Amino acid sequence: MSVPASGPLQGQRILLCVGGGIAAYKALELVRRLRDAGAAVQVAMTAGAQRFVTPLSFQALSGHPARTTLWDEGAEQAMGHLELARWAERIVVAPATADLLARLAHGQADDLVTTLCLASTAPLAVVPAMNHRMWQHPATVANVALLRSRGVQVIGPDDGPLAEGESGPGRLREPDAIVVELAAFAVPATATAPPGLLQGLKVVVSAGPTYEDLDPVRYLGNRSSGKMGFAVAASAARQGAQVVLVAGPVHLATPPGVRRVDVRSAAQMRDAVAAALPADIYIGAAAVADYTPRAYSPNKIKKTAGGQTLAVDLVRTPDILSEIADRHDAGLKLVVGFAAETDNIADYARSKLVAKRLDLIVANRVGVPGAGFESDDNAMTAYWPGGERDFPPAPKLRLADDLVHLVAERLRGDTR
Ligand code: PMT
Repeated sequence: MSVPASGPLQGQRILLCVGGGIAAYKALELVRRLRDAGAAVQVAMTAGAQRFVTPLSFQALSGHPARTTLWDEGAEQAMGHLELARWAERIVVAPATADLLARLAHGQADDLVTTLCLASTAPLAVVPAMNHRMWQHPATVANVALLRSRGVQVIGPDDGPLAEGESGPGRLREPDAIVVELAAFAVPATATAPPGLLQGLKVVVSAGPTYEDLDPVRYLGNRSSGKMGFAVAASAARQGAQVVLVAGPVHLATPPGVRRVDVRSAAQMRDAVAAALPADIYIGAAAVADYTPRAYSPNKIKKTAGGQTLAVDLVRTPDILSEIADRHDAGLKLVVGFAAETDNIADYARSKLVAKRLDLIVANRVGVPGAGFESDDNAMTAYWPGGERDFPPAPKLRLADDLVHLVAERLRGDTR
């Protein structure tokens, strides 16, 4: 899948910072893909990166000399490093090695790349690539968490064969997929861009799982990663909507231009969604727990002597989607639900459409590889009274755009 030159990266000024790992050669392809998507690209390299790929190769592909050091008088005269930091509307670090992630997390400025990142206010995306043990080391895990908490977009890494003949999480994501993820988190349209499909509308999106606490140690949860709902929120923001994203416990960066409210339980999600109203559109992509423990135990539940079973008394959670669909005071124009099913998808989805009084329901199969929970990809069918549309397998980021287009069509009432 590729991002068209007329897409969200068109005209964006991207500074690509290349780190010193074997995957640096893939950054060459990334420059091409970014330019194909309409972006203007300049490249800065760490000293390590220059041991793997030459600056000349990046110059040939980007159309600009690659910057290699803070101490280059000629380059500084042409465009000082602070000017380059200001020029960038987006900074992408690929490959981001463990060392580079650590230096970025701790605000160091001990070479050109880290100085540029620290001197810029542009949104930062990092694309990690390293040995799987380095990626899983607690130090790297903590550095990545710190970067995420500052709103840094973390793309990948993928799981698979690594350079040293080992296998595991640590592969640089493929350049096409990196560009798709950058496009999904593209900075919302500028004042000069044409108005988006949802311009002037307020959209509330729920995403991710809910956790229902049993005691201070345990909870009931589910496999939702939030990827689908976050992609929908990002897409709606790119189409000009004012977006509130009510997120269950997930590890995803907040899309640009989106107001995020973090919650844990179904009850908290209900309150946060209600507080975000009035709105024009509600899209319920969250996998809300249907049941919660009747009573929370403030002390850890102990094994009883000889007890082989434990019965937990559960009660229904509020059905947020139905409650929202029933509200007539909130100015809602469209209520959209999701249906996660393992079988009889069309029948179950259509009956939820009617039972929950929805305007649109999006059904997807769960429990199969390459779709549903956790996966980057999905396949869906949307149903509305009197119509349906298939969305064949594709990245969630792409499907979210297609769904937002359908939402805009349904609002205009021109889909039958
Ligand atoms: O987060 P990901 O890993 O990307 O995976 C999400 C997904 C890809 C599976 C997503 O597309 C999806 O289907 N999300 C909803 C899953 C779900 O909970 O389906 P459901 O059939 O149990 O619920 C139906 C609808 O009712 C949903 O819109 C849900 O938000 C809503 N609901 C359910 C229970 C409840 N108490 N309140 C609700 O609002």
